[in-house]
Amino acid sequence: MRPADLLTYKQEGRPIAVLTAWDALSAALVEEAGADAILVGDSLAMVVLGHATTLPVTLEEMVLHTRAVGRGLQRPAGQQPLIITDLPFLSYQCGLDEAMAAAGQVLKNSPAAAVKLEGGEPETLAVVDRLVRSGIPVMGHLGLTPQSVHRLGYRRQANDPIAQERLRRMARDLEAAGCFSLVLEHVPAELAASLSQELRIPVIGIGAGEHCDGQVRVTADLLGLTAKQPPFCPPLLQGRSLCVDALKGWVGALQSSQDAQTTNPTAPAAPHY
Ligand code: KIV
Repeated sequence: MRPADLLTYKQEGRPIAVLTAWDALSAALVEEAGADAILVGDSLAMVVLGHATTLPVTLEEMVLHTRAVGRGLQRPAGQQPLIITDLPFLSYQCGLDEAMAAAGQVLKNSPAAAVKLEGGEPETLAVVDRLVRSGIPVMGHLGLTPQSVHRLGYRRQANDPIAQERLRRMARDLEAAGCFSLVLEHVPAELAASLSQELRIPVIGIGAGEHCDGQVRVTADLLGLTAKQPPFCPPLLQGRSLCVDALKGWVGALQSSQDAQTTNPTAPAAPHY
């Protein structure tokens, strides 16, 4: 998969499935599930690294995890999902040269073929323009943008006509600046549907209704593995309690077999031990 293939999918009316991955194990699952693209999202800061927000994750950590994702893919090179890596907070907001160096570091040192960044202000548009002109495919991200959590919170965005018009304008500007696709997170479904109609590039929704060109989900949320699920991403299974119950069974069996062996040394050991 290449970034341009997502555009072909849109033109052909094929829905685009994007899932996050953060290591070789999750990447193998997501690839086997048939995702078209893998996002190494900065949500890994919260999901995997245990931070309270996405802000602390570093560029080096994003590269490290993207490399692990690449190692997890099993299909031959030409048939693998597209890997897109988030540029973390402050790696692209401090100037065009810094942004260029950060995106370059991702593409040079990992199997990512594209980067994602948040926002649609003039400064961000200038970054997109610079990266795209340098040959780096960029995915935009509007609506709930977790890198702006201290300003916007985790609330649904673009709830009134003025905010909707502003978001529309930013979406058009990101397309004009050269983004190959756009993530819309936690915005009204009607807005996402109409932008999907209007824009030439694919709109990939999360918490943005079903009428987008594609959908992206944080895989750990979808599998019910995260402790705090976002309200707009209901889990497909209760992965956390399934795993904990299975592990509890193993621990309990081991402990009771050791108790039994203490009182009766000929008692059988725990299964799988
Ligand atoms: O970091 C991430 O996982 C994301 C998705 C929520 C789109 O940006």
